[in-house]
Amino acid sequence: MNVLVTGGTGYIGSHTCLALLDAGYTPVIYDNLSNSSIKVLDQLSKISSHTFDFIEGDIADSKKLKATFEQYNIEAVFHFASLKAVGESTEQPLSYYRNNVAGTVTLLETMQSCGINKIIFSSSATVYGDPQYLPIDEQHPITATNPYGWTKVMVEQILVDWCKTDYQHLAIALRYFNPVGAHPSGLLGESPNGIPNNLMPFIAQTAVGKREFVSIFGNDYNTKDGTGVRDYIHITDLAAGHVAAFSTHQNDSGSLVYNLGTGKGYSVLEIINAFSESANIEIKYKFAPRRAGDIASNFADASLAKKNLGWTAQLNIEAMTDDTWHWQSKYPNGLE
Ligand code: NAD
Ligand code: WQD
Repeated sequence: MNVLVTGGTGYIGSHTCLALLDAGYTPVIYDNLSNSSIKVLDQLSKISSHTFDFIEGDIADSKKLKATFEQYNIEAVFHFASLKAVGESTEQPLSYYRNNVAGTVTLLETMQSCGINKIIFSSSATVYGDPQYLPIDEQHPITATNPYGWTKVMVEQILVDWCKTDYQHLAIALRYFNPVGAHPSGLLGESPNGIPNNLMPFIAQTAVGKREFVSIFGNDYNTKDGTGVRDYIHITDLAAGHVAAFSTHQNDSGSLVYNLGTGKGYSVLEIINAFSESANIEIKYKFAPRRAGDIASNFADASLAKKNLGWTAQLNIEAMTDDTWHWQSKYPNGLE
């Protein structure tokens, strides 16, 4: 089965292409390269000995999407393409709504006009806002605290409504917790442009000498050591979650939601310590004020994915920091 992977040269999409290929699907990559490198394609080929078909295109370009759907006889879409920087979304909300929400509407309209009924959507635990209880299950109310988060809430709603219009429509929203790590080969990983917003790439760049120290945003939270607690999930497990969700439900219909997380929470200090062990380098840090909009703790109840999909995260925090370090030390400047 040929499937389209929008955002397929990005961090999560590229790893998922490998998992899809392993599971017998043929992923066709569709990306405008706004936040990824064309060199990802070479890395994917080195890892898999497979040449991935790639279309440089934007999800807003209905004509190009339609031509791609027809050329490859696409049967389902894995939709990763999105802008994802929380801070930037507060400065440029309209870009985020245009790209993430309007872009998804164009994608769905084009899918519909080509008779493609199945979409797997990259949602986020950000839709839970400040948790009312922990661990967070899928029934937890959803909301947002920034435009990026609202784009995820809005697209989830659009998918629910789209599924109501045709009994053949299938939409699976996967709510990722904190994806980290890299491919075990060290050939593929996350390389954010500029100063990383997220913790793991910031630690990795500090370890490799590109940053002087990590600022820990707050040490007075009501957590085990006062620093923020998150549910970090290895990118390999996350990719496997997509395959499990699709292979379980590909003949079903309706709108479905799953958390993809480990169910375990680690503090910022625990992550820094784990990374120091992996890299065998002391990672300097300083305590800094809390970051606006941050929450104390966040971790998943991932039991629904276990029950329905037979999926649980397999890789521990050491694998996450080992693999991040392997990639970062091999490619300190990413693929550029
Ligand atoms: P990424 O930026 O590495 O990948 C996104 C890809 O989409 C990039 O390659 C970019 O070039 C492409 N893209 C963006 N807009 C496009 C458009 N209009 N048309 C075509 N291609 C476009 O990000 P990622 O970390 O791999 O995230 C993938 C998805 O997962 C996103 O939807 C993101 O919101 C979601 N998500 C990410 C995280 C995380 O922490 N990384 C957590 C939860 C959810
Ligand atoms: C993790 C912890 C920080 C950087 C974000 C998005 C969310 C989702 C995943 C897409 C927190 C602390 C961080 C640093 C630090 N993305 N930290 N120093 O905030 O849980 O989630 O990415 O959907 O929407 O909001 O992840 O990696 O930024 O932070 O102390 O330099 O590390 O305060 O406790 P977050 P993060």
